[in-house]
Amino acid sequence: MKKIHLLLAAIFTCSMAFAQQPVYKNPSYSSQERINDLLARMTIEEKVGQLNQVNGGVLTGPSVANDPGAQGKVQLLKEGMVGSFLNVVGTEQTLATQKIAVEQTRLGIPLLFAFDVIHGYKTVFPIPLAEAASWDLEAAERATAIAAKEASAAGLHWTFAPMMDVSREPRWGRVMEGSGEDPYLQAKFAEARVKGFQGNLDENHVLATVKHFAAYGAAEAGKEYNTVDLSRYALWNYYLPPYKAAVEAGVATVMNSFNIMDGVPSSGSDFLVNQVLRDKWGFNGLVVSDWASFGEMINHGYSKDAKEAAIQSIMAGSDMDMESGVMRTTLAESVKNGEVPMAVLDEAVKRVLSLKFQLGLFDDPYKYHDAAKERRTLLAAEHLAEARKSAAASMTLLKNDQGLLPLQNPKSILVLGHLAESQEDVLDFWKGQGDHANTVTILEGLKAKYPASDITFIQAVNRDGIFDQNAVKQINKAAKKAEVVIATIGLFGDLAGEARSLGDISPSDGQMTMLHAAKATGKPVVVLVQAGRPMVLTEVVRDFGTILYTWIGGTQHGHGVADVLSGDVNPSAKTAMSFPAAVGQIPVYYNHYNTGRPHQDGNEGPAHFWVSRYRDIPNEPLFPFGYGLSYSTYEYSDLKLSKKSINQNESVTVTVNIKNTSQVDGTEIVQLYIRDLVAQPIRPVKELKDFTRVDIPAGQSRTVSFELPATKLSFYDENGNTLLQKGAFKVFVGKNSDDVLEADLELK
Ligand code: NOJ
Repeated sequence: MKKIHLLLAAIFTCSMAFAQQPVYKNPSYSSQERINDLLARMTIEEKVGQLNQVNGGVLTGPSVANDPGAQGKVQLLKEGMVGSFLNVVGTEQTLATQKIAVEQTRLGIPLLFAFDVIHGYKTVFPIPLAEAASWDLEAAERATAIAAKEASAAGLHWTFAPMMDVSREPRWGRVMEGSGEDPYLQAKFAEARVKGFQGNLDENHVLATVKHFAAYGAAEAGKEYNTVDLSRYALWNYYLPPYKAAVEAGVATVMNSFNIMDGVPSSGSDFLVNQVLRDKWGFNGLVVSDWASFGEMINHGYSKDAKEAAIQSIMAGSDMDMESGVMRTTLAESVKNGEVPMAVLDEAVKRVLSLKFQLGLFDDPYKYHDAAKERRTLLAAEHLAEARKSAAASMTLLKNDQGLLPLQNPKSILVLGHLAESQEDVLDFWKGQGDHANTVTILEGLKAKYPASDITFIQAVNRDGIFDQNAVKQINKAAKKAEVVIATIGLFGDLAGEARSLGDISPSDGQMTMLHAAKATGKPVVVLVQAGRPMVLTEVVRDFGTILYTWIGGTQHGHGVADVLSGDVNPSAKTAMSFPAAVGQIPVYYNHYNTGRPHQDGNEGPAHFWVSRYRDIPNEPLFPFGYGLSYSTYEYSDLKLSKKSINQNESVTVTVNIKNTSQVDGTEIVQLYIRDLVAQPIRPVKELKDFTRVDIPAGQSRTVSFELPATKLSFYDENGNTLLQKGAFKVFVGKNSDDVLEADLELK
């Protein structure tokens, strides 16, 4: 009885305590009631403060003209003029900063801490483009869940990922961040990564951001921040689907892109944000600018000054100003004089506050700042194990002509090239908090894999791609005792990422000299190519028979490489971007239109003159989208459709037989494409519509079946309306976008 009394007394005291609190601090009210209460207490300046996101750490963009400096930022924070920080990381720093917001501001509104956790926080996974080559959605979800776990343990609430910019531009440094050239594959990865990052949004997950909205990957000539000039038809069909998939998967926030669309910077685009994102797709979450992109509308020549830029951004439906300060310095005035309705400001502020309530920050603002949890979570053994699996699963075997791979217990190996010993280059610009010191190099991976082998390393070519002439002699000498040479070429890690466009994406002359020196020894050569984008490898492919594309594998890169070289992991990855045969082909991509004068490489003579082709280089890429080999070999046969024709409400079952004709168990990525033969507007020569990963033991066959609903035959018109047109289609199933079986289907 006494106990019950005590309990009641405790409940009573507790509710008395809440009763004395303002509604917004009282958890017994709904979030909506709490947000309304808080809004009613806020000054216009405090409201604008919530829309202000400030950099508090390393610069991930240019410093801005009106930057208040470190002291100025603390002052702004105390005045309630900061809603969120980016680039403040780690429990210690985030806790100290959060304490100022909660304990030293008038209303005690907690901050959101955001950071670019692109492919891992401390445990760095392969770059997203490499991960996409695995076509393994579950693995991508696991990887992002681990990234979220580490990031949230380090005080973060919010990541600026996944990046879902379809791109056909290997010259663009940021292709590494996305999932390649295909809208369907990219959309599938969007869903998986949003799920992985956000989970149920508890304190082991983070808010995700789909970016960059929209079509940032279409920058002209692959030049960073360049003009995008697209038809609406291309926008709807090629570029928007992945962002839409992320919205449907419940992504919490969306980031504007730097580029223009129809001559309007995305940050101020009523069409993109209000009409497409909010009205058509029903997205009611937060839209954050990209770094200073509100203010950059002045450079674009779209806004005459900061005041106009802030008005144009918020009126277009964008909410939070990352780093440009145009909202902080001008928006309160524009609201007071009626140029921006209070209701518009309130809506934007509500979106920020509702995320903070959703994360429970008003009830426990310090729940992400547990130093002991941070210590035990970062680089946990199970995270490293998953990163290793993921690295191996992304390595793409481009050639294995003589079956040189796998290398089972070679007695002696000669390893060449700076990249083999580099801890730095297995990480890219977007490495999160990844430390070079924690990475495994190729050399270390090989030594761990082959403890009994005699492994000699000669750098031969340095980080800048310069060949050391003295190395020829050393290579010749060392090769005498070597059973095999492993030569590493590619681009250094930091060349993958933002502001890293390149006009030349082929190996350096020094690397080519090294490769030829290796070849001249007469020993078998395995070429490892490490880069965050497809490179132009025409000469390498012509002269070498064994090529493994390792991408940039992250913390466990070296182990991943060794797992594949040894055959402990049978490679199965297939590239999510076409590999150009020459820079002059770019953009080269599989889902192009047919043109009025199509051309097939190899067709020569007068009948093939007035056709869509180059006179000096092929039309076809060096390796098509979806291409990759395995130590297993597969034979596809018996492509069958359950029906020859379907109506708009039906689906057809597509089956194919795949035989593993090798002695090795393998996993094959099976791809289904369609072609709409006659349509208004026209459709591409192929479109990916489904895929699956199937394990096939050596010598065995599997029947793979896909359900293809008529809805997958649809596409968008230039206004984003769905069209489903009757008529003849082709259905293709195969190993890659080029090597397929085909069947006919009619839509009635
Ligand atoms: C600019 C990049 O475009 C964006 O992706 C990133 O999230 C922000 N900087 C913040 O670092």
